[in-house]
Amino acid sequence: MDINIAVVPVAGLGTRLLPATKSQPKEMLPVGRKPVVQYVVEEMTRVGMQRILFITGPGKTSIENHFDLNPELIQLLRETGKEELLAEFDFERKPVQYFYTRQRQLLGLGHAVSCAESFVGDQPFVVALGDSIIGLHAQSDVVRRMTDCFVRNQAAAVIAFEPVPLSDVANYGIALPKNGTGDVFEVADVIEKPGVQEAPSNLAIAARYVFAPSIFAAIKRTRPGKGGEIQLTDAIRLILQDGGKVYGIRLSDAERRFDIGNFEAYFRAFVEFALADEKRGASLRQFVEQWLNDHRS
Ligand code: UTP
Repeated sequence: MDINIAVVPVAGLGTRLLPATKSQPKEMLPVGRKPVVQYVVEEMTRVGMQRILFITGPGKTSIENHFDLNPELIQLLRETGKEELLAEFDFERKPVQYFYTRQRQLLGLGHAVSCAESFVGDQPFVVALGDSIIGLHAQSDVVRRMTDCFVRNQAAAVIAFEPVPLSDVANYGIALPKNGTGDVFEVADVIEKPGVQEAPSNLAIAARYVFAPSIFAAIKRTRPGKGGEIQLTDAIRLILQDGGKVYGIRLSDAERRFDIGNFEAYFRAFVEFALADEKRGASLRQFVEQWLNDHRS
């Protein structure tokens, strides 16, 4: 079975990043040299996705423009002798087709995924959150491991997880593993944003999923949950209650999730990516070290 559709929800308002997100999507904020969503798309194309459906909303047209061809700009760079910059447009020519549909009411992530139903039909598909990079420079192949696990186990869903400090469990969907928490484990339950006391583990959903199309029926039955939103995690619970098999795949140490949804995480991600930049990372490191030395109290 070839799983080659990725659904990328990017419709959220990004209120935690205001005013930066007042008139531009948070998914277009740069981390190092590229906008966040470009890392997501590059990760998807590397693991063989051929069709990418963005779930968009008002104010998100710059995402469509970013993945479109821009012949005028290419022409201008040629004419002005800046050929070396043409390599920066390689991502435009990846063998992938882009599609867009709007989430017309912001009712939550589960609702955003349900907007993909008529596009996806009766095939399994990947969901990759447009505001989360997996691994420095998105070198992760976790989605390939997830699709392999999905096929091998005839699963209803496979979810990427990463351990988080207990103080952070209230920000994520958290897994109750069935038995053991190795690299691959069966999931008994998932709880959206639990308090520290109710958290069944510290394994947090890490922005990547593979679903059988049965998720759509589950989302339709899902009532508004935390924050009054139709939560994807609650739909996954329904799948589990119906007897569907759900597996978890742990991210490796090299596959840390960079969720840029709040300023603290965004600043850290930017600094880490900039310090790892091939051309400018070393001089930035010198600058930062010097600055910290000069400003030590
Ligand atoms: P978040 O809940 O982190 O995004 O969703 P948000 O709603 O933009 O955040 P704040 O709280 O207002 O700052 C994670 C991903 O799911 C998408 C977002 O665009 C983001 O990429 N999303 C979320 C949707 O597409 N639709 C929704 O209704 C909610």
